[in-house]
Amino acid sequence: MNLEKFVRKNIWDMEAYSAARDLVAKGDYIFLDANENPYGNWNRYPDPLQIDPKTLLSKIKGVKIENMVMGNGSDEVLDLLYRVSCNPKKDNVLSLAPSYGMYYTLACLNDVEFREVLLDDDFDFDPQRLLDKADENSKMIIICSPNNPTGKAFKTDKILTLLKNFSGVVIVDEAYNDFADEESCIKYLKDFDNLVVIQTFSKAWGLASLRAGVGYMSKELAAIINKVKMPYNMDGFTQKSLNEKMLDLDGFEKTVKLLVSERERLIKNLSTLSYIEKIYSSDANFFMIKTAKHKELQDFVLKNGIILRSRHSMPKCQNCIRITVGTPEQNDLLFEVMKKFSA
Ligand SMILES: Cc1ncc(COP(=O)(O)O)c(C=O)c1O
Repeated sequence: MNLEKFVRKNIWDMEAYSAARDLVAKGDYIFLDANENPYGNWNRYPDPLQIDPKTLLSKIKGVKIENMVMGNGSDEVLDLLYRVSCNPKKDNVLSLAPSYGMYYTLACLNDVEFREVLLDDDFDFDPQRLLDKADENSKMIIICSPNNPTGKAFKTDKILTLLKNFSGVVIVDEAYNDFADEESCIKYLKDFDNLVVIQTFSKAWGLASLRAGVGYMSKELAAIINKVKMPYNMDGFTQKSLNEKMLDLDGFEKTVKLLVSERERLIKNLSTLSYIEKIYSSDANFFMIKTAKHKELQDFVLKNGIILRSRHSMPKCQNCIRITVGTPEQNDLLFEVMKKFSA
C-alpha cells in the first residue's frame, strides 16, 4: 500500500508532540519535567505508549508492540484512522449495512462521505459490490465481523478478496471475535500492509467501563497514528487494570465459554415461543429475534425491568430486536418474562 497516499498530507508532514520523558530510557528518575504534583498515588502522567499492557497483549496475540495502537475504546482507534487518512469533503469510506452505527457517525463527524452496500437476506455480502463502489478517493473499507447487529461472522476469504483488490485500508472490526469460531484476521497482518484489525476490551474481556481498544496494523501506520493521538489517551488506572485482567487468561476463557453456551441455551428456550418468527444464529454475545409484535414485546419486557434493543429501523432488520446474552439468572428471567408475553 502507498502509505503516503493514504495519509493526509498535513499529518504526514507534522512532527509528533514530544514529552521530556519520551527522550529517556525507562528508569527510576526524579520527575521534575511535567509540572505534576509530587504527592499522591495517581499524580503521574500515564505511559503514552502503554508499553506494559501492549507487552502482555503481544504475548497473547503474537503481534509485536510496534504493530499496535491502543485507544480510549476501539471507537477512538477507528476515529484516529478516519482523522489520519480522510480529507474532509473529498475522501470516502465504504462499509456494509446494517452494521455498527459508529462507522457512519465517525464519517459525519469527520465530514467524510460514507458509502454503504446492503447485506443480502442471509446477512452476507459480495466483496465485488464493495470494490465496485470504490474510487480513487476511497480510503477505507470497514467490515465488522462478527457483525453488529446481525451477529454473523463473515468468511475470511471475502476479507482476503478485499485486501487483495483494494488500494486503501481494510479495517476488520473484531469486537466480538472471541465469541466466534471464525479465526481472527490478525494472522494476515504479515501478508497485507493494508490490513487493520480492531479489537476491544469492552466485550469478552468485560471491561467496557474502562474504555480500552486496540488496533493491529503495519508498524508504519501504527507510528503515524501514535504520533497523532492525544499523548495520554489511556489513563494509568486503565493500563494497570488491563495488566491485571490479562494475567487471568483462564478466567477470560471461562467467561467466553459460559456466554457462548448461554447464548445457545437462550436461543433454544426462546425458539419454543410461537410469536417469535425467527431467531438468527449468532457468532457473538448477542443475537436477533424477529417478531411482528416487536414494539409491544420490547415495552412488555421493559415493564418487567429488562432493556432490549430494537433494530427495527435498520436496513434488513424489520421487526427485529437484538438481545444481549446475560448471566444464566438474567437469561432465565428474560425467558420467564417473554413466556408471559402473549402476542
Ligand atoms: C462492532 C463494534 N465495534 C466497536 C464497539 C465499541 O467498542 P469500544 O467500547 O472499544 O469503543 C462496539 C460497541 O458496541 C461494537 O459493537
